Amino acid sequence: MLDLERIRSLVTGRRPGYSLPQALYNSPDVLAFDLEAIFGQSWILVGFTCEIPRPRGYLATTVGQSPVVVTRDRDGTYRAFHNSCRHRGAQVCADGAGARGRLTCPYHQWVYDLDGTLVHARHMPESFDPAEHGLRPVHVQNVAGALFVCLAQTPPSFARFREELEPLLAPHRLEEAKLAFQNTLVEKGNWKLVMENARECYHCGVGHPELCLTFPIEDASGGHFAAEGDPRHDAFAARIAAAGLARGPFIGPWWQVERFPLNEGQLSLTIDGALACKKLMVAGEEADIGSLRWAIEPHSFCHSTADTTVYFSAMPTATNETLVTCKWLVHQDAVEGVDYDIEHLTQLWNVTNIQDRDLVENNQRGVNSVGYLPGPYSESDESYVLRFIDWYCDKALDHIAARTGVDGRPIALREALAGAGAEAPAFVAGAGKEAGESRAEHA
Ligand code: FES
Ligand SMILES: [Fe+2]
Repeated sequence: MLDLERIRSLVTGRRPGYSLPQALYNSPDVLAFDLEAIFGQSWILVGFTCEIPRPRGYLATTVGQSPVVVTRDRDGTYRAFHNSCRHRGAQVCADGAGARGRLTCPYHQWVYDLDGTLVHARHMPESFDPAEHGLRPVHVQNVAGALFVCLAQTPPSFARFREELEPLLAPHRLEEAKLAFQNTLVEKGNWKLVMENARECYHCGVGHPELCLTFPIEDASGGHFAAEGDPRHDAFAARIAAAGLARGPFIGPWWQVERFPLNEGQLSLTIDGALACKKLMVAGEEADIGSLRWAIEPHSFCHSTADTTVYFSAMPTATNETLVTCKWLVHQDAVEGVDYDIEHLTQLWNVTNIQDRDLVENNQRGVNSVGYLPGPYSESDESYVLRFIDWYCDKALDHIAARTGVDGRPIALREALAGAGAEAPAFVAGAGKEAGESRAEHA
């Protein structure tokens, strides 16, 4: 049984603008709460339609501790279900993708149609009604080839996110892509530390020498999401407009979408800045289009350059353990060894992810110390961390209020929320900031 009052007091007792109290990073009951209140109540980017390349197939993954399967029917309909057998609960499909017309549970071979209907169960009594034992549906959305699921009965509103992401993402033709490579990394750190690290580039100059070649981290000479009037920014804007692409930025309560320039002369987020794939994902010849960064709370970010889309997802597996999954998409017609090379495609993010893993694990060790005290974020360099932490706290308090029927926020906080409006990221220190005011974050 979750002690919601304890969690509420930890969240309301935190110092705004500072890292969280220790227990929010290392208590098993907080992880259980996070799985319910955050991962159970948010839209999760589970993968891409191109991972189910043919009609009649599935993509299975695990959200927190809940296996989920997305199916694609003959007519191209995508549905999602709890991947838990209605017999005795076994996971029906192993995580991963498969081409299959029906889903058979490996335990006692109950068989489900791709629409979740139970079509076969051996040796059950006459009174058994298969119609009452279909797979339980989960909300699913497809935005330009990106698949999102939400485990909540009533998911957060999706319309504005779709409206803002779709026009920027659609030109990258994810529906015509293929999964070139994926891997996972286990990080011995709480998922919030993984995401805090992923939402800033305060650490990049020292922590990621390889990434710095292509990724425009902040330096003394100015910001990377450079302001209007900056000649490099203006040239980029003109190039993007000529290519018929939109730039954003669009910043919502749980998303950030923006196309930004890479460092001068760099075409892709690769180890040498050269294209990772000769066959472009975007139409046309223009490859110098920077990167479309689309980031989703609580767990993901993607970079879509002209040639590839890279996906990053952080999924909690234990209090101090997070599974990071990385996927690389290229155009479906690209040929490995001819148009792209896996090592060249993946090297930069592999190096970067391992560097980040070490930073996160080191961060967790220090946070576990009896001497740990929450410390201040840099408003300029860690603005997206501030947004993430404020979003987390707000979402946590919303959930506790819904569970208990009591809005236990301090009165000042409730007033701030009321004034912020429904879609505003309430009690966010950086709320209302344009992306141009923020410094780099590689996630
Ligand atoms: S648990 Fe699936 S068939 Fe028994
Ligand atoms: Fe990093």
